[in-house]
Amino acid sequence: MDQRALRYEQLADELAGMIAGRILRPGDRLPSVRRLAHEKKLSISTVVQALRQLEERGQVEARPQSGFFVRLPSPSQDPQLAPQTRKRMARPVAVDINNRLMRVLALNNRTEMLPLGAALPAAELLPIANLQRLYGIVGRRSGALLDAASHTALNHPDLVRQFVRHSLAWGQPLAADEIVVANSCTEALSLCLRTVTRPGDIPRDGMSVDALEIATCERRIAACLLVSNFNNPLGSLIPDHEKKRLTELMAARKIPVIEDDIFGNLHFGPDRPWPVKSFDTTGNVMLCSSLSKTLSPALRLGYVAAGRFHAEILMQKTLTSGATNPVTQAVVARYLESTAYDRHLRGLRRAYEKQVMQMSEAVLRYFPAGTRLSQPQGGFVLWVELPAGIDSAALFDEAVKVGIPFVPGDLFSASGHYRNCLRLNCGNPWSARFEEAIQRLGSLAAMVAPSAK
Ligand SMILES: Cc1ncc(COP(=O)(O)O)c(C=O)c1O
Repeated sequence: MDQRALRYEQLADELAGMIAGRILRPGDRLPSVRRLAHEKKLSISTVVQALRQLEERGQVEARPQSGFFVRLPSPSQDPQLAPQTRKRMARPVAVDINNRLMRVLALNNRTEMLPLGAALPAAELLPIANLQRLYGIVGRRSGALLDAASHTALNHPDLVRQFVRHSLAWGQPLAADEIVVANSCTEALSLCLRTVTRPGDIPRDGMSVDALEIATCERRIAACLLVSNFNNPLGSLIPDHEKKRLTELMAARKIPVIEDDIFGNLHFGPDRPWPVKSFDTTGNVMLCSSLSKTLSPALRLGYVAAGRFHAEILMQKTLTSGATNPVTQAVVARYLESTAYDRHLRGLRRAYEKQVMQMSEAVLRYFPAGTRLSQPQGGFVLWVELPAGIDSAALFDEAVKVGIPFVPGDLFSASGHYRNCLRLNCGNPWSARFEEAIQRLGSLAAMVAPSAK
């Protein structure tokens, strides 16, 4: 075989792989011919041949006097817009919920996609300028925070004080000595699961307390994980008397409760609902939360109030990642201490409520007759049930081609349910762009309906 031919094809494939993996992006300049030849130990003509091949494939373009640049892909060439192309280029992987979820999350970061997928707030709703200012102040005044104390000082005491202070109105406030600060709610939940469950334990969903009681009689349950306030994706809120019943039932059966209260502060009604944790008298409930939905998901700051599991969670946290960034802890402590936080929350709740309402009205206006909607009393996600037979995974594939991603319903089920459902993120201020996107989504839903085929 002609060695040189092999080498230029290898180089072309290597560069194509980088373009497919978006390491090299549209508009990026490729390294110069001379540099590629030097670093890859190839002749100039081999490198030029590789680049010409990429040019023929439409993946790069030569610009006079400037070199080779990655071209904008046409939709059929874009690996994320066209899953069939990606399949050819990437190694085959089993299609499961995690892989599909990764795709939904990746789409969220792309500027040409409307942010209707991941449940994230718009940057303009967040107090970013305020936080930036505090990073400056804390950075200048608190050099000691950068000392290497990460495995002993897990919690910034001022931040813990603020978490406790903001729980004072609950039936039972958090205790400072049960709190472990974490890198986000996701880490907090993971610490709890690792503390009280083992691989092979079966997850239980469905928060009817009656169903839960029956389930406790039928099998060993390692833990009960729930979002009691404005559940994601349904937006539902467990009433207080049911929260109390659930707490007592789980304590009696010695089943630890892991509560995710990330949306608790985002109530549309006048009062902040208490978490299940407020009804706990035995330390059986671990409450996890973070600032991702209220201050900024980029802070990666959360906590778990771990009750009787505190010592074990503290050990898990130390062994997993040591302390959470102390500078960020100090910044957020300063922010939570100020009156700006309460003011910000009041504005944010009003904004989310309005956005959920505007999204709901648009869905009802443009989606096929028979579509049903959740009516969240807080948070900022909307659950849409399409008429039976409309497959939201098929709708997703069509919608992504025109830049409108969302989360297909079956990603919320371990057993493939909710295929005719989808979740929409309402974390962004309403605009004509969203109105048009929902109208388009409604037309596409009608198009993929079985009666339309
Ligand atoms: C219910 C719920 N818990 C946790 C998270 C993740 O939060 P964090 O960014 O703090 O890991 C999300 C994000 O969408 C969520 O909806």
